This record gives sequence, structure tokens and C-alpha cells, in this order.
Amino acid sequence: MDSAAPKGPGHVAVIMDGNGRWAQKRGRPRLFGHQAGARRVREIVAACPDLGVKYLTIFAFSTENWKRTQAEVSGLMSLFRRYIEREARTLFERGVRVRFIGDRMKLDEKLVRLMDELELLTADNDLIHLTVALNYGGRDEVARATKRLAREVAAGRIDPEDVDAETLARFLDTYVLPDPDLVIRTSGEARISNFLLWQSAYSEYEFIETLWPDFTAAEFAKLVAAFQQRERRFGAVVS
Ligand code: IPE
Ligand code: IPE
Ligand code: MG
Repeated sequence: MDSAAPKGPGHVAVIMDGNGRWAQKRGRPRLFGHQAGARRVREIVAACPDLGVKYLTIFAFSTENWKRTQAEVSGLMSLFRRYIEREARTLFERGVRVRFIGDRMKLDEKLVRLMDELELLTADNDLIHLTVALNYGGRDEVARATKRLAREVAAGRIDPEDVDAETLARFLDTYVLPDPDLVIRTSGEARISNFLLWQSAYSEYEFIETLWPDFTAAEFAKLVAAFQQRERRFGAVVS
């Protein structure tokens, strides 16, 4: 790519929404929609290298999603377990490095073990960095980060006078990741529902009508192309 070429979104974050409505339209249970949604992920991950997307972050379960029925929550948790078991090898072979963000404390032991194993298995991969937000909430993440930072201050290892935005960012779950350039939300809802609050301060947003189980690599490619036409100013005046 020559230097004059438009810059693509190196990091795309996706709020995968609309699984329930997709199922409902077909007269099927919500879990059927979640299964269909999980199947889309493989295609979107596979599309990343050609689109110049090195980092893909997907919202799989929020800290608020525990409010759903016990049947839906446990169905989702077993879907996550099965998904990791089934996809681990393919992800590894395709050069995907997988990370999880969110609070693992509330997740069941078996799932956490699978998450740890997948992170370890793919730790040396570098083609695509896939981050899965699971029991993730932006406010919860900032609160957990603040707690850890406060401990460092209390222990005398950080001077409160030295604390700035960059200091706090080092304690977030995403400390190794660049900020998302583009955040996509499917299903027509124009809200961020507690996703990457801190990190998306200057992200570009796309709210699209497509329900997540209908989202294709072709539509993804269109959004990436549209991103390249946007002018990002980051608060400055561009001459
Ligand atoms: C997104 O789809 C997946 C999760 C939140 C786990 P939804 O389940 O929110 O689907 P809708 O929004 O009810 O259609
Ligand atoms: C956001 O979707 C969470 C995920 C996609 C995992 P929700 O469906 O939970 O968000 P709200 O309730 O419509 O805001
Ligand atoms: Mg939803």
C-alpha cells in the first residue's frame, strides 16, 4: 500500500446485536438466533486480513446480559464453551491470536479454563488479534482498573500526582490493544450499551439495520471502505 492510500480501520469493534429478533422473525427460540450469530463470526474473522483489519473486537456478553432469563444465560454460556472447543484449532491454524476482556470472576470454571487455554494456544499468533468481550461492561472495566490503580497508590508504587489518562489506560483490560478506529453495531439500535466506553472516545461509528446473523463479509468490506472516506480530526482543525 503506498503512503497516499486511504488509511483503513486497523481496529474494528463490533456490537453483535439482533440475534433474538432474527430468531423471532423465524418463529424460533432466541438461542437459535445466538447459534446462527456464532456461525457468522468465522466469516468475519476470515475477512480481516484482506481488509487490513488487524484487530477485531466483538461484544459477546455484557455485564447487563445476566438480567436475561436463566435459560437464555445458561444457553449462551454453553454456546461459548462449545464454540471455543470447536473453533480453537481453526483459530490457531489461521494465525488468530485470541484474547478475552471482561470480568472472569462471575463465569463458570470450565468456561474460564477454556478461555485461558485458547489464549495460551494462540499467544504466538500475530495475523489477526481477535478480542472477545465476555461479561464485559465499560463502566465495570473502569471500576476494576481504578481499584487496581488505587492499590498501587496505596502501596506507594504510584504517586497520585502522576496519575493521568494514560496511567489509567494501563490498568484497563485492553491495555495491550490500540483504540478501536471503527465501531459497528448491527440491528438498528443506535447506542453503545456499555461497550468500550473509554477506548471509543474517538472511534467512528456505524449503526446498521442488518441483524447480526445476516451480517456478511461483503457488508463488512463496504463499511471498511466507507471508513476510508471519513475525515478524522481528533479535535484539531484540518487545513
Ligand atoms: C445480541 O443479540 C447477542 C447478545 C446480547 C448475547 P440479542 O440477544 O441482544 O438480540 P436482540 O437484540 O434481542 O434481537
Ligand atoms: C449489547 O446488546 C450486548 C451485546 C451485543 C453482547 P444488548 O442487546 O444487550 O443491548 P441493549 O439491551 O439493547 O442495550
Ligand atoms: Mg440486543
